[in-house]
Amino acid sequence: MVLPITAGINKDNHLEIGGCDVVDLAKVFGTPLFVMDEVTIRTQCKKYFSSFQKLNKDTEVIYASKAFISLAMCQIIQEEGLSLDVSSGGELYLAKKAGFPPKKIFMHGNNKTPKELDLALEMGIGCIVVDSENELERLDKMAAEKGINPGIMLRITPGVKPSTHNHIQTGQVDSKFGFGLADGVALKAIKKALEFKNVYLRGLHVHIGSQIFALHSYTKAIEIIMNFAKQILDETGFSISEINVGGGLGIKYEAKDEPSTIEEYAKVIVKGIQKEAEKYGMVCPKILVEPGRSIVGNSGVTLYTIGTIKEIPGIRTYISVDGGMSDNLRPMLYGAKYEALIANKANLKPKAKVTVAGKHCESGDVLIKEIKLSPVEVGDILCTPATGAYGYMMANNYNMQPRPAVILVKEGRAGEIIRRETYEDVVRLERPLRWQIEYGV
Ligand code: LLP
Repeated sequence: MVLPITAGINKDNHLEIGGCDVVDLAKVFGTPLFVMDEVTIRTQCKKYFSSFQKLNKDTEVIYASKAFISLAMCQIIQEEGLSLDVSSGGELYLAKKAGFPPKKIFMHGNNKTPKELDLALEMGIGCIVVDSENELERLDKMAAEKGINPGIMLRITPGVKPSTHNHIQTGQVDSKFGFGLADGVALKAIKKALEFKNVYLRGLHVHIGSQIFALHSYTKAIEIIMNFAKQILDETGFSISEINVGGGLGIKYEAKDEPSTIEEYAKVIVKGIQKEAEKYGMVCPKILVEPGRSIVGNSGVTLYTIGTIKEIPGIRTYISVDGGMSDNLRPMLYGAKYEALIANKANLKPKAKVTVAGKHCESGDVLIKEIKLSPVEVGDILCTPATGAYGYMMANNYNMQPRPAVILVKEGRAGEIIRRETYEDVVRLERPLRWQIEYGV
């Protein structure tokens, strides 16, 4: 399914999601608009939770908030019994505002600032995933000053290159993330972490990348990380009791995509770690995973209003929408491909090929290059499915464009969970010329 699981076509031949006619939603809330389906989000959370629990009780599913986070989303994640991964002070602050249990928060980042670490320590979060030796030293010192003893994991770069876009591979040797294995840096860092008195080592973390279809890359990463756990046991006597394999399970963006299911993924992860632990005669560690995209990606769609249609005879027809690279950067950043449909003519067969362009001042601001759509008219509502992950989170104010609203739908009810920005919001940080003289030197 590219669309949320509650999607259908109603008697007016309009697309319906969560029991709501999306054409009505566009009228009431305006466009561009992110529509998130609560049932799909909760279903994906439950699938993750139960698939892992079924195979091994000692597992923890941590939602990667960078894919999509808001106060309401924090509440859903908490209600579904998942933990939360944050990768910046901003995400951590939002989790704090939402009252998310600090002990269930994991913090990431290849260069966490002292300010971010300070907030994490003050909140007493469950785990800081340490990314470098500088950070390890900084953290131990800060913890000593505060007289606390935070739990940490070390992020290891296993040297595995999954097949996905270059920009979203993270586990290869040439990576800004984590401690390398090949050069002995990782083992040195483990020894240092064990010597330090003010942090306690919970385990190892490994994340190889995102939008991954081929599960064998996970098997490879697990073999490598478990071999490292064995090496740690042999050299230091310390038994690694937790392994976090990160996120990355791919989703269906186009009808032809064939991602693995959550159940298949869970099997590969759990069986893989159990098998390696047995091989080395070690106790099977607790297993942690950090999915983001596969929880929210297909839960969300974007609605746009078509404003102009430009036909260049013999070349192509551009249909332009009222958003673009400011609400979906993925086509420009990764060459990401999307499906689309005309939401107010959801019953009509796609006929003519068109190119869907955004409204920004860049020729590259193209959301979909060549897609077959049903006959298009100005004022139609265009829907792009699978924009629930890394859509709103990477939205920006290019051309001073206000960011869209995000609404949550369920059983015929809809409400904003993030309100639309106004022009006033867009200029709220502005200061007039010559304000500086008030602080004159
Ligand atoms: N854990 C860590 C340490 C990560 O870095 C990430 C994603 C995840 C978990 C969640 O991965 P997921 O399950 O969502 O694939 N902006 C890009 C994706 C960047 C992913 C960054 N890290 C995109 O739009 O494709």
